[in-house]
Amino acid sequence: MGDAAELELSVWVLSVIGAITALYYLLKWSWLCWRGFKVYVVSEFWPVDLRSYGQWAVVTGATSGIGRAYAIELAKRGLDIVLISRCEDKLHAVATEIESSYGRQTRVIQTDFTEGHSIYPAIKDKLADLEIGILVNNVGMNYAGMLVHFLDVPDPERRITQVINCNILSVTQMTRLVLPRMVERSKGLIINISSEAASQPQPMLTVYSATKIFVTYFSRCLNSEYRSHGVEVQCVTPFVVSTNMTHNIAVNLLVKSAPSFARDALNTVGYSCYTSGCLTHALQHIALSILFPDWLRLSSFCVEQTERFARTKQNWIKESVAQTAKKEE
Ligand SMILES: NC(=O)c1ccc[n+]([C@@H]2O[C@H](COP(=O)([O-])OP(=O)(O)OC[C@H]3O[C@@H](n4cnc5c(N)ncnc54)[C@H](OP(=O)(O)O)[C@@H]3O)[C@@H](O)[C@H]2O)c1
Repeated sequence: MGDAAELELSVWVLSVIGAITALYYLLKWSWLCWRGFKVYVVSEFWPVDLRSYGQWAVVTGATSGIGRAYAIELAKRGLDIVLISRCEDKLHAVATEIESSYGRQTRVIQTDFTEGHSIYPAIKDKLADLEIGILVNNVGMNYAGMLVHFLDVPDPERRITQVINCNILSVTQMTRLVLPRMVERSKGLIINISSEAASQPQPMLTVYSATKIFVTYFSRCLNSEYRSHGVEVQCVTPFVVSTNMTHNIAVNLLVKSAPSFARDALNTVGYSCYTSGCLTHALQHIALSILFPDWLRLSSFCVEQTERFARTKQNWIKESVAQTAKKEE
């Protein structure tokens, strides 16, 4: 074969490879855009009737932030609500708001999820006579008010166990309590609140990030196991939502308010079993995974920068924590 023919063949082969690659990315991005459009736009206009899952919804960590917003939104959509949290006064305040504003029934269960397995028999008794259609495993905590190294967690012996009990054990045990009756009825929805901090490893939030990837894997596996039994398990991975956990950071284009987040996230039920919850958080997730890949995020350079950033924010965080405590009093 002459040089010219060889060159022509090489150009042809490269053109075919280029065309196939371009077609692959075109189809992939078109599919992603179509899915995003369905999950975050179409769902706004045709949300699933959540009342069809059953009469009652159980929400853990229901007295503030995302949990309170889910409880109120579910009541608005016609469900009776079981509220579970630590503080009895706050539980009754949210229950009264739901009963008076939306005319739904409520029950409150006061418990502390950091205490471990001993609390679950009492919760089981209190849920025994209810037809539970939806469980929202929302309760979760971080181990420090700010970004810290693992060894700088305050009171680590107690705190690390508390975080694991609250973020991992609660999700697993609450699911164990409600799932058997959902399977019996061939109907049910379990929503587990994970975090964007689980989408990729998150140094300086090490334990939190690791507990949340547990929630993600648990949810996705469980959904595969029980979807065919009529039970859906949805994993929600929010970015930043303005709550006590995020020191009530100002709401803006990137940061959602809890009510707006809960409304958008509940619309995605039936459209996606693994979602950021709302369009702006989904876009941030895509941007971050492209612009801030694992190798950069896990580099010593990046950890140093995060440490520096945390130091500059220390005073602001202390003030916000004090303000939140005062407001709650
Ligand atoms: N905010 C965000 O930007 C964000 C982002 C990603 C994921 N998340 C996840 O979303 C979930 C909710 O977060 P949030 O920001 O709404 O938190 P939050 O504002 O701190 O609210 C936490 C709720 O849980 C209750 N709670 C806390 N510790 C508890 C315990 N040991 N036992 C029982 N109840 C307890 C609190 O009420 P009491 O004080 O009355 O107990 C409160 O109702 C968490 O799983 C979090 O990891 C949040």
